[in-house]
Amino acid sequence: MMSATSSSAKTSNGGYSSGDYESQLTLEEEQKERDHFQKVIDAFRYYRIHSMKRIATAEKQFNEIPTRQQRLVPSFGDTSLRLQQAVEQNYAVVKKIIQSTDMLFENRSFPLDASTVNEVPDNKPKEFDMDKVRTTLKQLARDWSDAGAVERECCYAPVIRELLNIYPKECISPNIKVLVPGAGLGRLAYEIARLGFTCQGNEWSFYMLCAANFVINRCDMVNQYLLYPWVHQYNNNRTRESQLASCSFPDRNPSAVPPGSKFSMAAGDFLEVYTEPDTWNCVATVFFIDTAHNVIDYIETIYRILQPGGCWINLGPLLWHYSDQPDESSVELTYEEVRAVITSIGFEFLKESRSHPATYTQNPESMLKYQYDCVFFVVRKPS
Ligand SMILES: C[S@@+](CC[C@H](N)C(=O)[O-])C[C@H]1O[C@@H](n2cnc3c(N)ncnc32)[C@H](O)[C@@H]1O
Repeated sequence: MMSATSSSAKTSNGGYSSGDYESQLTLEEEQKERDHFQKVIDAFRYYRIHSMKRIATAEKQFNEIPTRQQRLVPSFGDTSLRLQQAVEQNYAVVKKIIQSTDMLFENRSFPLDASTVNEVPDNKPKEFDMDKVRTTLKQLARDWSDAGAVERECCYAPVIRELLNIYPKECISPNIKVLVPGAGLGRLAYEIARLGFTCQGNEWSFYMLCAANFVINRCDMVNQYLLYPWVHQYNNNRTRESQLASCSFPDRNPSAVPPGSKFSMAAGDFLEVYTEPDTWNCVATVFFIDTAHNVIDYIETIYRILQPGGCWINLGPLLWHYSDQPDESSVELTYEEVRAVITSIGFEFLKESRSHPATYTQNPESMLKYQYDCVFFVVRKPS
């Protein structure tokens, strides 16, 4: 799909010269990519209408029960209004995201004029795409709000601790290059760059890229925006307040990186973008390796692009993303099998924990909570 692109406004690094990948795309591929981008923007645009319809359905169903029963739940009265206000606020954020989609990267630009895109797109977005929009909002809470602090502590902090173990503070310099594939909204990559490493996050989804571009390149104040990440959760709410819980973001000013920090976001399929051997000192993956059709391709690529002596730090589960998806191939290995591949390819295990509890965009107040029992490991490509 897309290629290496760097959010150059606040980045340096890169390593991809302007137009490298763009020039490789055929006209047909370019058109396909534009159509896909348009589909993503359409889904963002449709967010308000779609969410309001869902609120209207809940209200209608409540209004259809006998009045006598309705009176038993007097607190339901202003629920619709409150949910609508929350959705309006989310849509204000969504509009900011799509207004900043004239993304200019180091080797690509996406000069889409989002103002010409209607709130009611010609083709109604699929539920799958609307779910991606809702997930993007929850990812904002995970990566860039106080509400995500606990989650980041269990997912990102162990990776950062390990990085500091490999490179003690006095050894850190921009000459040490760290890559974060599947970077989502870029918080882990940002934190690594803040320590003084050169760090590049790589992301493939346009939903994530648009939101990451907005936070990283357009937000310049702490707690600038308000968001209701759980407003679409109609089940397992202990109180209405938990559905209506808000958070502000960003909890840290993304533009306030220390002088000399080298932080970039690169767009595109990890397997297509990173082909240069012996380039990176460290690769850090969090909740990423199970996004592969074939994880062996990921492992081989990580091995190839690491410099001799370089390390791969990984934390995450094995929720194979393409499992049971029609017309998608999915190699569904166990951790034992993944581990055997890692060693067969040549990595040496330095550290391993097979039981590391972590959550992912989890509503802390929900009556249903998913907790992953992740693996966490550090492996090294021999010198
Ligand atoms: C489960 S999310 C994890 C995001 C982030 N690491 C975190 O912990 O919040 C996996 C991310 O990998 C991205 N992704 C999936 N396949 C990819 C690929 N081939 N290349 C780059 N990114 C990819 C997805 O778009 C998604 O944002």
